[in-house]
Formats: sequence, C-alpha cells, structure tokens
Amino acid sequence: MRQFIEGLPKVELHLHIEGTLEPELMFELAKRNNIEIPFASPDEVHKAYQFNNLQSFLDIYYQGANVLISEQDFFDLTWAYLQKCHQDNVMHTEIFFDPQTHTARGISFDTVVNGIHSALIKAHEDLGITSHLIMCFLRHLDEESAIETLQYALTHKDKIIAVGLDSSESGHPPEKFQRVFQLALSEGFLTVAHAGEEGPSSNIQDAMTLLGVSRIDHGVRCVDDPKLIETLQVLQMPLTVCPLSNVKLKVFDSMEEHNIVELLHQGLCVTINSDDPAYFGGYMTDNFHQIALTHPVESKELAQFTRNAIKASFASESRKQDLLRHLEGYLVQGIH
Ligand code: ADE
Ligand code: ZN
Repeated sequence: MRQFIEGLPKVELHLHIEGTLEPELMFELAKRNNIEIPFASPDEVHKAYQFNNLQSFLDIYYQGANVLISEQDFFDLTWAYLQKCHQDNVMHTEIFFDPQTHTARGISFDTVVNGIHSALIKAHEDLGITSHLIMCFLRHLDEESAIETLQYALTHKDKIIAVGLDSSESGHPPEKFQRVFQLALSEGFLTVAHAGEEGPSSNIQDAMTLLGVSRIDHGVRCVDDPKLIETLQVLQMPLTVCPLSNVKLKVFDSMEEHNIVELLHQGLCVTINSDDPAYFGGYMTDNFHQIALTHPVESKELAQFTRNAIKASFASESRKQDLLRHLEGYLVQGIH
C-alpha cells in the first residue's frame, strides 16, 4: 500500500508555507540572519512540538517564522517544500502564506511574495509542478489590518489567486471578515476559509454564505449538523482535510477516530492535505499512508481523494485534464 501511495499522483490544496519550516532550516536561517532562537538544537525543536490544541501550536509557529527575513529566505523555504512535493508526486499545489506574520515584523509584502513566487516558477520549470498562491488573513487580527493587507495584494494580483482565513478560529467567526472578503471578491480574487476545525459547524455554513468561499479548509466538524452534511454533499463543496494536523492538534483523539473516510463514503468532496507538515510529522504521502493504515480503504478510494482535489483545485481546465490523465494512467498501470 505504501508503494501505491508513494507513486499516486497528488494535488495539495491546504498547505501553509510557514508550516513547512523544518527545524534544520530554522537553525540555518537563524544563523544566517543572526537571530536568537530559544532552542539549542534542531532535535530540541522537534521535541518541543507537542501541542494540546490549535492555539498552543500557533504560539510556537509564529515564533518560528521570526527567522524568515530576506527574499532568499522565502525562496529557500518554498524550494525545500517543493522538493518534498517532487518526492511525494505532488503535481499541483495551492499554497497559503500569512503576510501579516511578516509585515508586523517589518518585512515587506514584496519580499515575502517575490521570494515565494520565484521558487514556484523554478519548480514549474525544473520539476513540472504547477501551483497557485493564496493569501490568508490572520483572524485574530482586526478587519482594518486585513483590509490593509488586501491593498498590498492588489499590486501582486498576477501572483495571488485567492484569499483565505486562518489562525485562531475560536472567538473569530467568519462574519468578522465579511466586508474584506466581499472586497476581495469584487477585485476578482477567489475565496477560501478555515472553518469547522476547532470552531462550531455553524462557521462552515457562515463561511459559505457570508464569505462566498469555493472551498472549506478542514470542515471536519460538519458531522455535528446532518443538514449541513446534506448541503455539502449536494453542492459538492470541497473540504481540504488534514489528518495528521487534526490528530496533533487533538481535533480527534486518534487517527482511527478521524472521520475523513466516513465523509468520503457519504459522497462529500473531501481531500487529503498536510497543513503544516514540519510541525505535524508528515507531508502528503505520510498523510495518505496514516489514513490507509488506520481505515479499511481500497486503492480506488485513495485515488478518489486525488480526483476530488483535482476537481476542487483552481487549476485551469486544461491542467485539470492533464492531472486526471496522469492519475488514470497511474491506475491502469496496475503495479499495485
Ligand atoms: N495556520 C497554520 N495552520 C493552521 C491551522 N491548522 N488552523 C488555523 N490556522 C493555521
Ligand atoms: Zn491550515
């Protein structure tokens, strides 16, 4: 099964670039930029990655991002992730970035976007990986800061396809960002939002109604509302689910209790993603593998996660056809 999963063509739709900062690169960048970090070795950093909930992770995650200073740093971070994509047969990826984490420290928006974007161009040229960038607003910050961030994005419209919403879900519901999302939509950006990760299932419905989202990030709490499940099924609203993240952040007590396979069987458009792989212990192949190890799934069901992700992606129609051809080609090879 592991061999089948490794070779399976994949599409990633829920990945925070700041969440791909491996401890080894964190140390290298801290040295390069003369920044003190409160750990003696990369091993010590790995050991510190024990989380009780979303907030306990976010506190460490924002601290880690402090080592990112120059365009080269953002390039190196993104390039390292894209090499993992290549190893895992991720053929298309849609990447979140959190500009406010960096602009609040005096790093310019241009530095962040240009560094990430140059790595995406190189990955297309050298590895054939296609991608899109999604700019997230930090929901614990206010509307004014989100609007200011959207203004920066207008000068990079050619590089950013959508806006999203991440960070602490509790106490920061979708309606707080209704106006900025309407503004973003009117400027031609697509929208997505984290909802129903730790927060209530009503956040999922509100993200659809108030923020006009094309996809829900996480969304696993939808099971609390049977009517919502029906709506998600009828609309085929994609859910970008992140198994290892959900277990690490205690959204589920164990991988066995994860509901992604149940949602797949109910006909929802669910996808598998890695969220913050440097913090949660695995990239795409590992996330697929953990589900396969703990649930009775057949290879055709694992392939359905990729089929769903192709359908839910913001790739062009021709790229979607190309990705589907790769997937079908892999499945008929029958080496598994
Ligand atoms: N930022 C990075 N990872 C996140 C997650 N899983 N939920 C909310 N915000 C995040
Ligand atoms: Zn996320």
